[in-house]
Amino acid sequence: MLVSINALSSDEYKKLNIHQAVLTAYGPLFNKDLLNQFVSDGITSFSMDMVPRITRAQSMDILSSMATISGYKAVLDAAINLPRFFPMFMTAAGTIRPSKILILGAGVAGLQAIATARKLGAVVEAFDVRSEVKEHVESLGGRFVEVEGSKENEGAGGYAVEQTEEYKKKQRQLIQDHAKKANVVITTAQIPGRKAPILITKDTVENMIPGSVIVDLASSTGGNCELTKNNEIIEVNKVKIIGNSNFPSEMPADASKMYGNNIINFMKLIIDEEGDLKLNFEDEVVKGTCITHKNEIINERINSNN
Ligand code: NAI
Repeated sequence: MLVSINALSSDEYKKLNIHQAVLTAYGPLFNKDLLNQFVSDGITSFSMDMVPRITRAQSMDILSSMATISGYKAVLDAAINLPRFFPMFMTAAGTIRPSKILILGAGVAGLQAIATARKLGAVVEAFDVRSEVKEHVESLGGRFVEVEGSKENEGAGGYAVEQTEEYKKKQRQLIQDHAKKANVVITTAQIPGRKAPILITKDTVENMIPGSVIVDLASSTGGNCELTKNNEIIEVNKVKIIGNSNFPSEMPADASKMYGNNIINFMKLIIDEEGDLKLNFEDEVVKGTCITHKNEIINERINSNN
């Protein structure tokens, strides 16, 4: 079995001589080429980005590990790029008002961003289509920005679902109003298997305070800001837009430690004491993470997405 420590690409796979199984993170919702190669080669493939988001699987959840780093680092990067303090200061030279941070998407990265920004003394607002996160936002000292009428889908495993047009219109307006008053906007909103929703339009950027910073953590899936350029920092009307979905690579020591621990915890489920592959498809974590087996796509999420 090949255990790949980075996201395996189609080209890398072709160079390797694998007969049995691959454990990696290959984005099977997007990476159809590699998925189809695994099917035709009869490879048993596991993708760690598909580990079910259930309590028992938290120690194997690479998305949570990397999102924790991204949320933390996004705030530090914003603070470095912002021409202002985050906290309030009462100095002999006058009172410095705290910066206002708006965080869009209060999943793992968003909640970590709220916690980090609060520790640095900023005033934090957050928004998510999943209204159940309001309590989490508030417990971290953030204020939840509410839009009435969100569509929830409990069958989506905690993930966001597509919203109605009317809801999206109200949401766009509310975000526009709050972004205009923010010094930093950190966007983290994603919908698995789809392009990221646009939450910050060009108009919004043009109405923001000069010197403000947007950090778009969804840049690799299209970005939450209309103007984001993936892997680039651009400036529009004196607003800096940082398109970075790859903050974990800037914290390699802890990123590798967390990823490695996630892999080891998962391997304990699929390897027996002799080190042989032993698959128990009755286990929902094994079943949910296994994508291809015996020349078939056996994963329900992938099959229902096709
Ligand atoms: P994600 O990276 O897929 O999305 C980030 C956030 O963006 C989510 O909270 C989502 O609701 C939000 N979002 C999507 N579209 C939006 C829009 N149009 N406007 C505003 N916000 C939008 O999510 P992540 O952080 O990977 O986790 C999602 C949820 O999964 C968690 O909050 C949690 O409920 C659940 N989870 C469960 C775990 C477990 O029990 N093992 C582990 C990790 C997550």
